[in-house]
Formats: sequence, C-alpha cells, structure tokens
Amino acid sequence: KKDLISITDFSKEEYLRIMELAADFEKNPNQELLKGKVVASLFFEPSTRTRLSFETAINRLGGRIVGFADPDSSSATKGETLHDTIRMVSNYADIIVMRHPLEGAARYAAEVSSVPIINAGDGANQHPTQTLLDMYSILKTQGTLDDLNLFMVGDLKFGRTVHSLLQAMSVFENPIFNFIAPESLQMPRGFKHHLEERGIRYFEHEEFTDIISEADIIYMTRVQKERFSDPIEYEKVKDVYILNKAMLENTKPNVRVLHPLPRVNEIATDVDSSEKAYYFEQALNGVFTREAIISHVMNLK
Ligand code: CP
Repeated sequence: KKDLISITDFSKEEYLRIMELAADFEKNPNQELLKGKVVASLFFEPSTRTRLSFETAINRLGGRIVGFADPDSSSATKGETLHDTIRMVSNYADIIVMRHPLEGAARYAAEVSSVPIINAGDGANQHPTQTLLDMYSILKTQGTLDDLNLFMVGDLKFGRTVHSLLQAMSVFENPIFNFIAPESLQMPRGFKHHLEERGIRYFEHEEFTDIISEADIIYMTRVQKERFSDPIEYEKVKDVYILNKAMLENTKPNVRVLHPLPRVNEIATDVDSSEKAYYFEQALNGVFTREAIISHVMNLK
C-alpha cells in the first residue's frame, strides 16, 4: 500500500505527476473515480480547510466519507489508543485521512493500518498535502518550480507547512530560501541541515524589511499558539511580523503572497485586494490537489 506521511515519501516525478493530475482535476473536477469507495476522515485536531477540501475532493470523486471532525465525539476520549482506532477503521474504509496533534502519529498509523494513510498534519512535524497544494499554487503563479527565491516568514519552528515545503522545493533547480523569524522561532536545525547537505543557499533574518523586494514567493505563517507550553512566550512573539499592502509596493510584479491559513494578524486585510495576494486561491487549489493525491495514492488514474 502507498501512504503519504512525509513529503519526502514522494519522488520529484511523483510531485510533478500530482501537479499534472491537479491541473486535470481543475479543468474537470467531477470524475467518479471513487465510486463505491469509503474514505475515513479522522481529525484529532481542529481544521477548516484541510478537512473540508478533502471532503469536497472526495465528493467530487464520487466517494463516501465516514469519520469525525471532533475527537471529543470519538472513543479516544474514553482512552482508546490510536493503535486500536486505526486497526478498526482500516477494516471499515478503503483509505484514511488523518490529522493528529502528536508528531509521528501518522507514521505510526501507517504501520498499523491495512489501507493507505494520508497525513493531514501531525503536530509541528509535516503537512504534505498542504505542500503539494502550495507547489501547485507556486507552479500556477510562477510558471515553474525552478530558480525561485522563497521567503518563509513567521513561526518556522512549529510551522509544519514550511517544514514540508522546504523539503519539497529543495529537489528543484537553484532554490534560494530566506527565513524571516524571531530567533526563538527560526527554522529547526534539521531542516537547515537538509539544505546544507544539498548545497542550497539559505539566509536567516530577524527583520521583516525591504529585503522582500527580492522574493518570488512570500510564504506567511501564523504563530502556532497551540504549540507553546508557556503562554508568556507566545505573547512575546504573537504579532511580530505583519505584512501590509504598502510593504508590497517595491516587490516584484509577479511576487505572490501565500499563507496556508488560518491567519490571525500576520497579513493585514488591506493585502486581500492586492493582485499579489494569492492565499484564497491557494486554498481552492487544495481541492484539485487533494483529488490528485487520493487518485495517485489509490492508483485510480
Ligand atoms: N492550512 C490548513 O491546514 O488549514 P486548516 O488547519 O484549517 O486545515
């Protein structure tokens, strides 16, 4: 069986195949490839976009969905282990999409499950389906995944989306990464090491300044309040960078602002009317990309 737990589980050829399939689903979203199949959607942590875009994708593919959006409504609250939940649900469904607050939970589920597992986010670790929709958004707006200057801004320590995106973009030609984060929320050492091993340039900044004029993509992230054990530490960094429309004046004409959403304050609402804002379109791309991911993992196309 094929799982998608970490973005590094897929090869560059598979990334490109997903991009091709997503473009096909964007042209023709309603394809009955999942007819007669049941998808389990297990969300042990809150979600709006990931869960609803998966559900939309499954509906557009003609499949049926079982599952829960609120772990409090599952027997996990009675003390049932993830092992037992997954073993049982994998007998009900043909594939499982799951989100869990613990890093490594999706990998563990894949070891226990008899059907494919798609990781819809595990703690601060990985969010591979987000990355594939981010790549599709980058490809659509830039026309290429090569030779791009990617700025990642905000909570790079706990932000699972930037961890997966860094790894994925590192397989393309000549990426440059610029990390803008307070010192306490910088990109973890392991991900920087991933770039160093491949001879990929990266720069770290604490100031959110004119340097964004060099960006092709400005990838904003929310400070992940739920991952802080100390609320005082969160208060110190919560609104540290706020992108507003005036700051985009001297940026490249084709730069695009991405954000996995939800945003809190890190993108001022005046950016929404800028042609450089792309985050709502990015969220729509999630439907086509998730149709593509399910089709690829289940070998339907
Ligand atoms: N981008 C993302 O994962 O959003 P949700 O938490 O709403 O699913």
